[in-house]
Amino acid sequence: MHKVVRDFSKTVVVPPEGIRLAYEPEPKVRSKYRQEIEEVLITKGCLQARVEGLAKEIKEAFADINEITCLVVLKGGMFFAADLIRILDENSKLRTRLDFIRCSSYGDRASSSGEVTMYEFGDMEGDNILLIEDIIDSGKTLEELQSYLKSKGKQFKTCVLLDKGVAKHIKVDFIGFRIPRIFVGGYGLDYAGMFRGLPEIVVIKKELLK
Ligand code: IMP
Ligand code: MG
Repeated sequence: MHKVVRDFSKTVVVPPEGIRLAYEPEPKVRSKYRQEIEEVLITKGCLQARVEGLAKEIKEAFADINEITCLVVLKGGMFFAADLIRILDENSKLRTRLDFIRCSSYGDRASSSGEVTMYEFGDMEGDNILLIEDIIDSGKTLEELQSYLKSKGKQFKTCVLLDKGVAKHIKVDFIGFRIPRIFVGGYGLDYAGMFRGLPEIVVIKKELLK
């Protein structure tokens, strides 16, 4: 049975059985993905509620700033960022710009190769940057990104939707959910390019991972 969560004002700790809102039914895996997906870990309703909570935290942290550049880490951060940025722009005095950075260390596998490749799109020199990333596992990707942005002399804060709680050495300003150390997909996150379009976070079956 999924745990019912009511408070989305701070990082939500997700148990292995998953979470849902009080008014959501017990979530089920869609039949087309039953071979590949173990369970729904975080429902669509919980994602929406926590993204609103995060937007509030971010607004408060940037209270004395008028303009930020939202730097989205492709491809995984795309869905999360799209929801977050729209709430930020709708409900605060913050003016937002949008930029992308592409980061890759996984290829088609379920663990990091350790080498992070980076491609930058816009020019963010001198901007206040909010770095938006899908998930932090070993922390290698964020570590590289943060040191790259720091070396450019930019001011920035980091926002991550999911944290597996492993990379204790990395400073993250805003964390959506803390999850168990399992491989997940959905809401932008993929395994070998699949599952990004799912509106919830799901657990990928262990036997599928290589
Ligand atoms: P790290 O460098 O080990 O912290 O891994 C971070 C990157 O790996 C993220 O930006 C994701 O692209 C990917 N990643 C890590 N864990 C998962 C997962 O459970 N599902 C999907 N992608 C993941
Ligand atoms: Mg990523």
